[in-house]
Amino acid sequence: MTSHSDAVVLIGPMGAGKTSIGRKAARALGVSFFDTDAAVVRDHGPIEKLFVEHGEAHFRAAERAAVREGLATAGIVSLGGGAVMDPDTRAELARHRVALLTVTPRVVAGRVRDSNRPLLQGGDDAIERWTAIFEERRPVYEELADVTFDTSTGPLQDIVDALVAWV
Ligand code: S3P
Repeated sequence: MTSHSDAVVLIGPMGAGKTSIGRKAARALGVSFFDTDAAVVRDHGPIEKLFVEHGEAHFRAAERAAVREGLATAGIVSLGGGAVMDPDTRAELARHRVALLTVTPRVVAGRVRDSNRPLLQGGDDAIERWTAIFEERRPVYEELADVTFDTSTGPLQDIVDALVAWV
C-alpha cells in the first residue's frame, strides 16, 4: 500500500460487507477508512429521509460529492452500492484499484434491512428487489473490478485478510 498514493475502492451490492470489511482492512493496513454513505449522513442526515424528502437524484448528487472526497484519500474507500452507476464516478474509478465484493441472495437476506437502504424497504420482496438491482449493475461492477471477493463463503476475517494481501 505504501508504494501507492491512490485509494483502494470497494464496490458491490448492498449487504456485501463493504463497510465492515473495509473498516477492518484499513485498520490492519494502518490507513484511513472512508464510507460514502456515512459521509452523506454526516452532511445531509439519514439517507432514507433524503430519499423521501428530496428524491433519489438528490441523494445521488450528495453521494457523488462524497465519492470525490473519499477518492482524494489514500486509504480504503467503501462506495454505496449504486454509486458506480454515475458515469463521472466510473471515469474516476479507472484511476484507482477497485475490489468488487459480491454476496449471494441467500446470505444477503439476513444483512440488508436497515434505514440506510430505502431501495429495499417496504413489502416482503426485498430480496427479489436486491437481486434485480444487482443483476442490472453486475456488468458495471465487473467492468470496474480489478479483483473480486465473494463474501458469502467463510468468515469475514478471511475476506479481510485476502483484501489486505491483495492491496
Ligand atoms: C444503495 C446502497 C446503499 C446506500 C443507498 C443506495 C444502492 O449503500 O448508498 O441506500 O443504490 O445500492 P450500501 O451499498 O452500503 O448498502
